[in-house]
Amino acid sequence: MTLYNLGSINIDLVYRVPHLPGPGETLAALSLSKGLGGKGANMSVAAARAAARVVHIGAVGEDGRWTVERLTEYGVDTRFIAYAAEPTGHAVIAVDDAGENSILLHPGANHALSETEIARALEAATPDDVFLFQNETSLQREAAQKASALGLRIAYAAAPFDAGAVRAVLPLLDLLILNEVEAAQLAEATGQSVDTLPVRDIVVTLGARGCRWINTDAGQQHDIPAIKVTPVDTTGAGDTFTGYLLAGLDRGMPMEQALRMATKAGAIMVTRQGTADVIPDLKDLQDFDGL
Ligand code: RIB
Repeated sequence: MTLYNLGSINIDLVYRVPHLPGPGETLAALSLSKGLGGKGANMSVAAARAAARVVHIGAVGEDGRWTVERLTEYGVDTRFIAYAAEPTGHAVIAVDDAGENSILLHPGANHALSETEIARALEAATPDDVFLFQNETSLQREAAQKASALGLRIAYAAAPFDAGAVRAVLPLLDLLILNEVEAAQLAEATGQSVDTLPVRDIVVTLGARGCRWINTDAGQQHDIPAIKVTPVDTTGAGDTFTGYLLAGLDRGMPMEQALRMATKAGAIMVTRQGTADVIPDLKDLQDFDGL
């Protein structure tokens, strides 16, 4: 089975800072590093590291050839990443001593996809496959509609969160992943609590409390506890969680087992500085000794 991931590819510029800058503040960074990122790319790398077959659908500019090469190195099928006239998307990420971040995004080529390219990427897809997307590219609804019409299961990681973007794709979804603040915002926007949404599986991440899986078919909820770690950088941890979850499901794991694996991968990720380049692999999960 294959995971088709329509997702952003960013060049991440990561600045370590003594504290996150406030409005009007000028702040000297302690260090700068540059790496592969983007919620989409991070999820593709995580899923590939968790042994899924991943086809990434996205776009970069000429300045982003190295990002595509790196995705290929990490085991992602990059044949359907287009080269656009716009520069590659980038993210300016400030990370403080507590591992918290603030992110400024420039979408660039992530918003330059065409429907033809998406259709071409999905030509070989079958109903056994899964289509994943997030909210950092253009053509989300169009692509999800196309994948749904082809019979793929549709998974959406609602990040960066925008209630309107979620509502636009809600009827197409089989799996929705969001955090508890976003779940509350979505409930307010739709006028219904998340456990009554027309989506079969909903995963709400609860930060240090783990995550909750809501199966609306069975009307059941299951809580998966978090693993205690000392965070140094939370950037990309949610993406790692999602990539691992999708890979686990794709490999036939029951939801709870896939969620436990994803929780472990996310926990390891917050102990590392960086994004796609430092996503743990299955051996790291095996060796991990968290609580
Ligand atoms: O979730 C982390 C990601 O958000 C970063 O890699 C950055 O590129 C932004 O997309």
